[in-house]
Amino acid sequence: MSRKTTEREMVAILDFGSQYSQLIARRVRELKVYGKLFPYNIRSAELAEISPKAIILSGGPASLTAEESPICEKGIFELGIPVLGICYGMQLMGKLLGGGVVSSSAREYGKANLCVDEESGLFQGLGRDLTVWMSHGDRVAKLPSGFERIAHTANSSIAAMKNKEKQFFGVQFHPEVIHTPRGKEILENFLYRVAECSPTWTMKSFVERSLAELKDRVGEEKVICALSGGVDSSCLAILLHRAIGSNLIAVFVDNGLLRKDEGRTVKERFESYYHLNLKFIEAGERFLEGLEGVVDPEAKRKIIGKEFIRVFEEEARKEKGIKFLAQGTLYPDVIESRSAFGGPSATIKTHHNVGGLPEDMDLELIEPFKDLFKDEVRMVGKELGLPEELIQRHPFPGPGLAVRIIGEITEERLFLLREADKIMIEEIREAGLYGEIWQAFAVLLPVKSVGVMGDERTYENVVALRAVTSTDGMTADWAEIPHPVLGRISNRIINEVKGINRVVYDISSKPPSTIEWE
Ligand code: XMP
Repeated sequence: MSRKTTEREMVAILDFGSQYSQLIARRVRELKVYGKLFPYNIRSAELAEISPKAIILSGGPASLTAEESPICEKGIFELGIPVLGICYGMQLMGKLLGGGVVSSSAREYGKANLCVDEESGLFQGLGRDLTVWMSHGDRVAKLPSGFERIAHTANSSIAAMKNKEKQFFGVQFHPEVIHTPRGKEILENFLYRVAECSPTWTMKSFVERSLAELKDRVGEEKVICALSGGVDSSCLAILLHRAIGSNLIAVFVDNGLLRKDEGRTVKERFESYYHLNLKFIEAGERFLEGLEGVVDPEAKRKIIGKEFIRVFEEEARKEKGIKFLAQGTLYPDVIESRSAFGGPSATIKTHHNVGGLPEDMDLELIEPFKDLFKDEVRMVGKELGLPEELIQRHPFPGPGLAVRIIGEITEERLFLLREADKIMIEEIREAGLYGEIWQAFAVLLPVKSVGVMGDERTYENVVALRAVTSTDGMTADWAEIPHPVLGRISNRIINEVKGINRVVYDISSKPPSTIEWE
């Protein structure tokens, strides 16, 4: 079957629900090939239309020996495209193509020694013995016709297989995880040697292509976007500004819940320095009025989310003839909203994100980052020449300080928290720890404690310091900030912020806690 040429080379990853599916896409992209996840049941005709250079079948929690298990269309193996099946993906390939899959009596979980039987192709240049990461109960016990074994372990007589003619490969282990130390080279062999992909997916090429596409799509029309000053919306605004200049209207809403000097910095950076067409809206009073007396975290989020959309809509309506709304949606948002098997997960907190779509405004959506991971957006920022300080900025939640003041939000409490937070970040930067930490911030607690200052009794507020390390915000560990640094932060807060007489450090991980307190 002849292969259509696509604009950019793509590897289609069929997602069978493995916790590592996203990781496969990341690894493929690290090898500068554009990897994209698709539901496992994508029609083979649709895949033929997309015409990927290669297909990867992910692992998954299901068992092919059970009555119902997720199965892809067999036609996928008739497209003339190289396929790599990983774990469940290998077993599925084995079963669909006529081999045999059995439940293993000996489950393999964790590190295993892989004996390579054939060093060419997938294992080219990697030697005969490899450490790999296994996590499976089932295994391929009988090779499908046309296949041969290319590696084994003590527990899996067929730990890797190939069909040379069709360029199909299966590996029982997980090359995408770091516990398979040479896994990336195995994927590299598959992508470059087997599928003949070329390493052309770079953020430079992404920016060039996006600029051309944006110019083409938007023409002389106007685009509006919300600018929060965070990494995603800043990169988005600068990219659009480069593409369409002053036809981009960036709206910054100061909701009164920002950190110290945050609004001023955004104004200076984007208006004075980058010359964006920036609408700077001071709406603090409106938000604080709406929040008066509110203590419930979800109620706070709802009020702030609604008010934000109201303010944004009002501003958008003042501008005439806007056709597009740009949003900084990222790839994980897209993946999470359509998991492999559907089914909602429990709502821990409803994350309110700045930039919600005005419902009845009839604006067309522009989402240039909807295929990118967060670190790729950071690389786009670098490519666009944004300062490192902005690119490496810690995440800041849409509802801002509202979810870091436990209990009622008042001007006075906002002032206390802003001052404490500023000191914490200054000291963390000073200690050279900012870049190692995912997020660091102060939380104002709804309790007062007794203290003594200059022989006098005080009865004042308590601040909690929170700092975590994480790779994606989904799980997190409390950061082991050296005690002298914690000591300096505490000293400065108590001495410099009148109204706070006690500082505590939060040593909870996520799970079971969350990163924010509310
Ligand atoms: P949690 O607290 O759920 O936070 O562990 C995970 C990450 O999400 C951020 N966060 C939010 N971001 N709107 C946002 O835009 C929200 O309502 C919100 N709540 C939490 C949090 O700062 C962390 O980075």
